[in-house]
Formats: sequence, structure tokens, C-alpha cells
Amino acid sequence: MEFHDVVRKRRMVRNFTDEPIPGDVIDRIVEAGQHAPSAGFSQGVVYVVVTDKEMRQAIGEIAGEEHYVRDGFDPFISGAPVQIVICTSEQVYHDRYNERDKRAEGEEEIDWPTPYWHTDAGASLMLILLAAVNEGLGTAFVGVFDPPALQKLLGIPEEYLPIGVTMVGHAAPDRKSGSLKRGRRSLDDVLHRERW
Ligand SMILES: Cc1cc2nc3c(=O)[nH]c(=O)nc-3n(C[C@H](O)[C@H](O)[C@H](O)COP(=O)(O)O)c2cc1C
Repeated sequence: MEFHDVVRKRRMVRNFTDEPIPGDVIDRIVEAGQHAPSAGFSQGVVYVVVTDKEMRQAIGEIAGEEHYVRDGFDPFISGAPVQIVICTSEQVYHDRYNERDKRAEGEEEIDWPTPYWHTDAGASLMLILLAAVNEGLGTAFVGVFDPPALQKLLGIPEEYLPIGVTMVGHAAPDRKSGSLKRGRRSLDDVLHRERW
């Protein structure tokens, strides 16, 4: 698929068929996510892929699926045949930025201008979403407001914060998010040329 089409086709899909996704397709999608840039090449982003139905159900519960269903959405979190939990470790970045090439002797660790571990997780998420679309699949992402519950369920070490759950599968007709009523801001609204 043309890159432009992949970008334009990507949207959060909130209903999936239960058709399974072959393992090599899942691996290609995660591999694309792992090809994201990372600060200092720290690579502190790690993935847990879940296909087991009961586990998907449990993840759906933690991610508040019942609230979506109550609002008229399909159970798209547990219903997706593949869930990818993207996790990021702040510690990996501190460790990397204390290595010799990043911190000269006698210097302090950098004053982090933004939490790069989240920047990198977002970059990886985006590649995963686009890679899934490129495979002809639908995809979505939801935040999780109880990360420790997800860590406990999946055995994720405390150091790795799950940033949310990404769903991948064959798209089915879905209910659109109310947020879309806002419409996308125009390019003129968000693009400042030469200076703000
Ligand atoms: C960081 C982040 C968190 C999001 N959290 C949720 C969420 O918890 N539930 C949900 O239904 N959609 C969530 N979304 C999807 C947005 O609502 C969606 O991207 C936005 O409405 C634009 O729609 P589109 O992605 O289909 O173009 C999230 C998106 C991002 C990037």
C-alpha cells in the first residue's frame, strides 16, 4: 500500500471479526514498532502480544470495556483477535544516559526536557498502527487507567509501564467515537511557518 494511503486509511476501529491473525503477520507488525527511533537508541519499549481469548477478556475488563459497551460500542477490546500491550521503561533511559558516551565523568545525568520513554512509546505505537493498516487490518488503541492491574495479569515487571492496549484484527462495521465530531483541525490551524 502507498504510504499516503496507509496514513489516510488509519483510524481507530472499534469492532473486529474473530478471524485469527497469522503469527508471521503479528511479528511483522511488532517488528515495525520495534523499528521506531529511540533516544540514545535506548530501546526501552517492550511488547506483550496476547491472543488467548480468556486473557483478552481479562485485559478488556481492566481497560474498562464494560463502559464502552454501556455506551453502545461493540466489545472491541476483548473482541480483537490480537492485543499488543506496549510497555516503556523509564529506568532503561536513566541507565542509558548514564553510560560514558552520554554522561562525561563529573557531569550530572541530563535534565530530561520531556519524558523520552513516552515519546519513544508513542513513536512505536504509531508504527504498529500503520504496519497493521499496511497488512490490510484494522487497529485501535485505548488507554488503561490501572497499569498495575495489567502488570499483575501479564507478569510485566514493575519497571515497565504499560501505556495502553493496541488492538489488531479484521475490521467490522463499528460505532464511531463521539470525539470525531470535533473534526480534524485544518493544516493552517496547526502549522506555523518559519515562526509561531
Ligand atoms: C494516547 C491516546 C489515547 C487514546 N485513548 C483512547 C481510549 O482510551 N479509548 C478510545 O476509544 N480511544 C482512544 N484513543 C483514540 C482517539 O480517540 C482517536 O485517535 C481520535 O478520536 C481520532 O480518531 P482516529 O484515530 O480514528 O482518527 C486514544 C488515542 C491516543 C493517541
